[in-house]
Amino acid sequence: MKTAVYSFPESGVEAANLAATLGNECLPIAVHRFPDGESLIRIPDYSAQALVYRSLDHPNEKLVELVLAAATLRAGGCRQIMLVAPYLGYMRQDIAFNPGEAVSQRVIGDLLSNYFDGVVTVDPHLHRTALLADVLPGKISVTVSAAAALVELLRGDVTRETLLVGPDAESRPWVESVAKPLGLEVLIGTKVRYGDRDVKIELINIEDAAGRHVILIDDVISSGQTLIESAKSLVAVGAYPIEAVATHGLATEADLARMKANGISRVRTTDSIPGRTAAISIAKVIAEALRCNDIYPHS
Ligand code: R5P
Repeated sequence: MKTAVYSFPESGVEAANLAATLGNECLPIAVHRFPDGESLIRIPDYSAQALVYRSLDHPNEKLVELVLAAATLRAGGCRQIMLVAPYLGYMRQDIAFNPGEAVSQRVIGDLLSNYFDGVVTVDPHLHRTALLADVLPGKISVTVSAAAALVELLRGDVTRETLLVGPDAESRPWVESVAKPLGLEVLIGTKVRYGDRDVKIELINIEDAAGRHVILIDDVISSGQTLIESAKSLVAVGAYPIEAVATHGLATEADLARMKANGISRVRTTDSIPGRTAAISIAKVIAEALRCNDIYPHS
């Protein structure tokens, strides 16, 4: 079955990287935006198996275009259409926290299930839903860990004294999967969130960080507030330098400036979301996961 990776304009480089790693062709999906905000999708060529590459940060407009693309590929004869969304948005709202709220994770999972045969993503932000398979019942679901990429990124930068800090209990699996191969100590905090940019972090045994190189590790940097609050406490005990590394970087320039002003000297992420913090390609770990999950793209 001939496979192609299909790219959208904002991540043509990253999609081409994945295609090259897999040994497949990369075909661009053309997007025209009309003055009234509608999108027109044009697909230049069809393959039997399609890996449609698009991260779902700022997902609202992107989702409509994805659905248009998947339907067009299907109509053109594609037999298997997989979404490769290195960052999969809308995973946090997995219950209605307040009466009347949408359970976005379920709604978006159903939408994607209606158009795609499966979804491949990296470090999805799942809390109460244990598995990506639960978000996409009956579909192929592949969860890729970015740990190997983050370890590769950090290997030359750490010493035995470097301390890896996770801001909250949810970060523990990510921090530990990076710390173990590097042989580093970890410190995990607890977090209470009061609002989008209002979090409190408590780091027990923070004195252990005094005078040490600290790398804050998380799955996603959104506003950066979680890392800023962690950094404030670390600065106060004399940790230095303090850096941040995460799988997904959503932070804006203003957020990054605030992080710097609060003592975080460097912020690095994978290129799951293309941008200024992207420091390592995620293509290799995605390609390996596709092969391990018996999704064998053919050139
Ligand atoms: C939350 O549980 C996540 O792991 C991140 O810590 C969080 O999404 C980061 O958000 P922000 O950067 O806005 O604090």
